[in-house]
Amino acid sequence: MILEPEKFRSFELAGWQEIPAGYHDAFGPLTAQAIEPLLDAVRLKKGMSFLDIASGPGYVAAAAAKRGATVLGVDFSAAMVAHALQLQRGVEFREGDAEALPCGNGLFDAAAMNFGILHLGQPEKALLEAHRVLRAGGRFAFSVWAKPEETIGFGIVLRAVELHGEPRVELPEGPPFFRYSDPEECKRGLIVAGFDSPSVTKVHQVWRLPAGDGLFNAMNESTVRTAGLLRAQKPSVLAKIRDEMRNALGKYTKGDVVELPMPAWVASGVKA
Ligand SMILES: C[S@@+](CC[C@H](N)C(=O)[O-])C[C@H]1O[C@@H](n2cnc3c(N)ncnc32)[C@H](O)[C@@H]1O
Repeated sequence: MILEPEKFRSFELAGWQEIPAGYHDAFGPLTAQAIEPLLDAVRLKKGMSFLDIASGPGYVAAAAAKRGATVLGVDFSAAMVAHALQLQRGVEFREGDAEALPCGNGLFDAAAMNFGILHLGQPEKALLEAHRVLRAGGRFAFSVWAKPEETIGFGIVLRAVELHGEPRVELPEGPPFFRYSDPEECKRGLIVAGFDSPSVTKVHQVWRLPAGDGLFNAMNESTVRTAGLLRAQKPSVLAKIRDEMRNALGKYTKGDVVELPMPAWVASGVKA
């Protein structure tokens, strides 16, 4: 439990409002790799009603619509909602908070949240909300990054900050970014929110970025909390961090791209 969830929410919201296009370019091809595992985990089929929570540019919602589901995407950032409406023609998106969904009880057959839970000040509330809006027997799934030892992109930036910078800068306090990178914590969260049969599986993902400063630029320009950590460093320190990151990418570089392992966990449960 964090002390000032509203402060954290405002910080996150301000950040997401600024980066829909950058996020789409840098992270879209990566987070899209978890979509099919999420939709399989909730057994999404034609004719079902589906909610994409923290929908961002709307990748999961669009894929669910392609499977023949009736779909709604919800995100708290008006800029993200506008971006999704532009990218995913014919799919419905609405502004709304994952911790207080703008939807009635028992409306959906399935719901999913792709890399959203780690951005929430009160993730327990979002799990309860996902449970509330599902019908009995409905399924919910969410994805999170594996720990930074395995998600090489995060490992590299965090190690560079540890080596050259100040890792404990003043940012609004949020829950640990890698809290749900532990399958047992995912299951515990699902059970506490009322879900049955929790299940967690690993998804192999690869992040392809321009060689050189591609990773630094993605982290500095297209994230919220990691960008906050980088921007709080002195300019001379930031230059050292960038060099360190560039060097660390050497063994992942193939020509003009880097290929970084970025595995994810997909956790799911059933509403009894
Ligand atoms: C990492 S992006 C994930 C986007 C998308 N689901 C995907 O598949 O790439 C996180 C998204 O969560 C949204 N978000 C963060 N906190 C939220 C909240 N409290 N309620 C709703 N959306 C939120 C952000 O605006 C952003 O679009």
